[in-house]
Amino acid sequence: MKPRLIVTRRWPAPVEAILAERFDTTLNASDTPLSPAAMTSAFAHFDAILATVSDRLPVAVFPKNTARTRIIANFGVGFSHIDVAAARDRDIVVTNTPGVLTDCTADLALSLLLAVARRTGEGERQLRAGEWRGWSPTHMAGAKVSGKTLGIVGMGRIGKATARRAHFGFGMKIVFFNRSPVDDDETRAMAAVQMPTLEDVLATSDFVSLHCPGGAGNRHLINARSLRSMKSDAFLINTARGDVVDQDALIGALERREIAGAGLDVFADEPAVPEALKRLENVVLLPHLGSATEETRVAMGMKVVENLTAFFEGRPVPDRVA
Ligand code: DGY
Repeated sequence: MKPRLIVTRRWPAPVEAILAERFDTTLNASDTPLSPAAMTSAFAHFDAILATVSDRLPVAVFPKNTARTRIIANFGVGFSHIDVAAARDRDIVVTNTPGVLTDCTADLALSLLLAVARRTGEGERQLRAGEWRGWSPTHMAGAKVSGKTLGIVGMGRIGKATARRAHFGFGMKIVFFNRSPVDDDETRAMAAVQMPTLEDVLATSDFVSLHCPGGAGNRHLINARSLRSMKSDAFLINTARGDVVDQDALIGALERREIAGAGLDVFADEPAVPEALKRLENVVLLPHLGSATEETRVAMGMKVVENLTAFFEGRPVPDRVA
């Protein structure tokens, strides 16, 4: 008997094909997210739940005691949408997909940084609206990026990849905040300076890019107080998780021009994006595109296949997080 799997959203076609071949797979052709009740019922009927960041798996959707499900294989590196303690209590393994989305997420962080500093979203909106009156010395002058200081919050794989691009591509100085010490060849090669506190990084940086995990430990790490620590001409970039930033405090800081702007790929209550943010010209807003390239999305799916195959063959699971 093949293990029974449920895939909660549409996945890239080559990945769905392999899943269907190797396992007894229920696909989600309509791509509609599962309701909390459907998620709870999945625990009773499937050996594996193949989840994504668009699913919510708080303790409330887990079955009270035992479940048929033995593994939740997440399509993505961040897993703060899954209550891992609830999974552990029920002997359910949780896996993620680290490594394969590092480059594309770092690329997108740089795209946001450049876009917000150089006002490219604003410029494109103006041109498409037919409101461009031609070149002029004062037209849409933005902030220079090259040579400025980038503060990285969370110097893990994606933080380092973002720093590398900024340092070697744009000659940026790198400072960073990370809870544990980071002193390796990679950070030394970019002369990246680890600062003792988050506030030190916020106060020093022209751009602050967030790369820490979401979830309770980092909820509202960036709040009204920390935003006040930033320079008034600095920009905040978030490709991590929406809950790392107090979104209302950020909107206030942007409206009052306490910081210069923000580039956001993630939001507090996705896919809802507050009208107050959409009204602001000094923000660039993207619909959670960090890992969204054909190559990376297939690679993420293949990592899930590897994790599931190892699990059901009784081998050590490569990307186990719980
Ligand atoms: C991740 O991997 O955590 C992304 O945000 C989902 O694409």
